Amino acid sequence: MSFRLNIPVFLLVSSIFYPAISQAEYGDVLINNYSDEAGMRPVVFPHWFHRIRFRCKVCHADLGFKFEAGGNEINMLKIIDGEYCGACHNGEVAWSVENCDVCHSGKPGTPTQVHHSTTSKLFTLSSKKSKGDK
Ligand code: HEC
Ligand code: HEC
Ligand code: HEC
Repeated sequence: MSFRLNIPVFLLVSSIFYPAISQAEYGDVLINNYSDEAGMRPVVFPHWFHRIRFRCKVCHADLGFKFEAGGNEINMLKIIDGEYCGACHNGEVAWSVENCDVCHSGKPGTPTQVHHSTTSKLFTLSSKKSKGDK
């Protein structure tokens, strides 16, 4: 991807500027403000995966994501409008919204949370493949 940064330099810089709030960086954020109610699986946001590709500022300042799991009122209208995840998941910076299952990959009924260990416990088995079964 053309968006890959100079990772060693980025890691060094970010560890100098963000020593105190590193906890969430390695975890996945499971977002379930609306998904369950709407009959979709909750969203799993792999924080580390994104954080090694982009600076904190891109999301938490420029795109306005608050530093709080579930603290943003995200819905599909906003995403399709280019807000939040949709600033990148638009078919240009990253694959676009029709890949429902790649984002909506959490286990149904899981509450909003930061999950500190591996991705695999939150993901269902089909999470990496869109089967068009929304
Ligand atoms: C890039 C990631 C991403 C993709 C792809 C995606 N969503 Fe979402 N979606 C989200 C996020 C984040 C939320 C907010 C989750 C929450 O708070 O429960 C959400 C919320 C929703 C909601 C509940 C809120 C609302 O807008 O009604 C529905 C329904 C939904 N998505 C359907 C879909 C469908 C259908 C697709 C595929 C056509 C899709 N989503 C693709 C990230 C995504
Ligand atoms: C690609 C976008 C993106 C980047 C880059 C990013 N974050 Fe996040 N961050 C998010 C999203 C999305 C959430 C969850 C927000 C939600 O659930 O509504 C989040 C949540 C958080 C949280 C709150 C977790 C909790 O415990 O509630 C912290 C702290 C955080 N990020 C810190 C950082 C730091 C520090 C960096 C840079 C080293 C960074 N983030 C880079 C998108 C990003
Ligand atoms: C600043 C840009 C940016 C934002 C904002 C962003 N993403 Fe991504 N995301 C990417 C890129 C780039 C990729 C890698 C695409 C590829 O591999 O082709 C990606 C990949 C992913 C993946 C797949 C991870 C994997 O293991 O392959 C998921 C899931 C995902 N994003 C969910 C989300 C959700 C949910 C949001 C909003 C809460 C979001 N993204 C916001 C840029 C972004």
